[in-house]
Amino acid sequence: MVKYDKTTALLRMADQNARIDPSDFWRCGFHLTPPAGWLNDPNGLCRFQGYYHVFFQYAPAYPQNGQKAWGHYRSPDLINWEYLGIPLYPDTDLDKDGAYSGSALVENDRMYLFYTGNVKEPGEHDFTHSGRLSNTILVESRDGIHFSEKRCVLDSYPSDYTCHIRDPKVSGKDGRYDMVLGGRRREDKGAVLRYTSKDKENWELAEEITTEKPFGYMWECPDLIQIGERHYLAVCPQGLEAEEYRFQNNHQAGYFLLTRERTAENFVEWDMGFDFYAPQIFMDEKGRHIMIGWIGLPDEPYGNRDEKNGWTQALSLPRVLTQTAEGLLRQYPAEELEQLREKKVLQNPIRYDWIVTKEKKQTVTLRLSKELELKINEQEVLLQFTGDSGAGRTARKALHAGIEEIRVLADGSVLEIYFNHGEMVMTTRIYQETPGFEVGIEGKVSSSTLYEMKKMSWTDLR
Ligand code: FRU
Repeated sequence: MVKYDKTTALLRMADQNARIDPSDFWRCGFHLTPPAGWLNDPNGLCRFQGYYHVFFQYAPAYPQNGQKAWGHYRSPDLINWEYLGIPLYPDTDLDKDGAYSGSALVENDRMYLFYTGNVKEPGEHDFTHSGRLSNTILVESRDGIHFSEKRCVLDSYPSDYTCHIRDPKVSGKDGRYDMVLGGRRREDKGAVLRYTSKDKENWELAEEITTEKPFGYMWECPDLIQIGERHYLAVCPQGLEAEEYRFQNNHQAGYFLLTRERTAENFVEWDMGFDFYAPQIFMDEKGRHIMIGWIGLPDEPYGNRDEKNGWTQALSLPRVLTQTAEGLLRQYPAEELEQLREKKVLQNPIRYDWIVTKEKKQTVTLRLSKELELKINEQEVLLQFTGDSGAGRTARKALHAGIEEIRVLADGSVLEIYFNHGEMVMTTRIYQETPGFEVGIEGKVSSSTLYEMKKMSWTDLR
């Protein structure tokens, strides 16, 4: 196998030189951010040998070099985190242009990681219709830290697909495994391919899952999950046209409940804010389905000012998924996060967890920070920047059927808003000029509890 040592050396150096500046108040206290450079999708989420493992798409030498490796955090309890460095570099001819997104399967005290090795071929190409290879690669580990040699387990796909096929999400056990891959069909239609295997090495195409009418030109980061009796397909469709209350970002992230027809109307967006994409779901030993997403999006028209501090992008809080009676999914921060509540305060916290309750019909405006307000009208929620701290973000709106509870978690340059215990969520980055958040209420609420939040602990184990 050809080794790409130069890139590895560059990425390793950038990662090892990373220093977290304590005066950088855009750095988050209880959200994961990259030690240096760029982070995107969460990868390989799992619970293994007493730890939660959170790998992530990591370009430590960004912006000088955008090559993607995997970074690695782990935590016993979702609030004390350890950084373990880079377990996967784009360092072979199977993945020389990016160790792209993938997932973990835990079985018999081993961790198996499946991911896409992105390879660009020499010559004139558009890298959509020609010139790109997507190798599905498997590595395994006994300790969740050191991984075996890379083996390619799948490298050819149906001929009606473009070169954009990636992001294996693998599930199953005891000789029956499923893998879903996201893809772009040649007629510019997003779809998912489901493969099955008896041994995790040999994969056979079982079915294509898509919509009847095209719903975006490409689907990234698929996830097939079962909660209770219900099955869901999560995907990130690219290229949907914006509607007044839906699909307001460049690319979307959401799910289909698979007992319903797969149509645009039945697609549920995970997050109605400015920044949320490429989430991944896993189950922990308590049986909780936990989702973590990237607080960011590919190709957004708005910017991220943290870049000038030598790092950019963040991951969402771990969100526990539960079902409503109709089978829709609620997302709510894992309860462990509540241990970071420090003390109740009345105003201007540095970072906060704020719970407001109100009567369903009551209209109210919450000031979430100096330049960000949340207006809850009878049918509509409007999240609006009133100054420049959105770095180009302006307003996002969504319809609701009555809001009684709002929980906002604000942290450095990230803000997550949960409505009615997570029936709807809005997430955004925010770049203020001074640390801390000014909060306020206009209108009548039933209760308001504001906690100052502590930082989670973060140990560097490199
Ligand atoms: C989603 C995505 C994935 C890909 C990865 C590359 O954000 O484009 O489809 O594997 O990012 O970093």
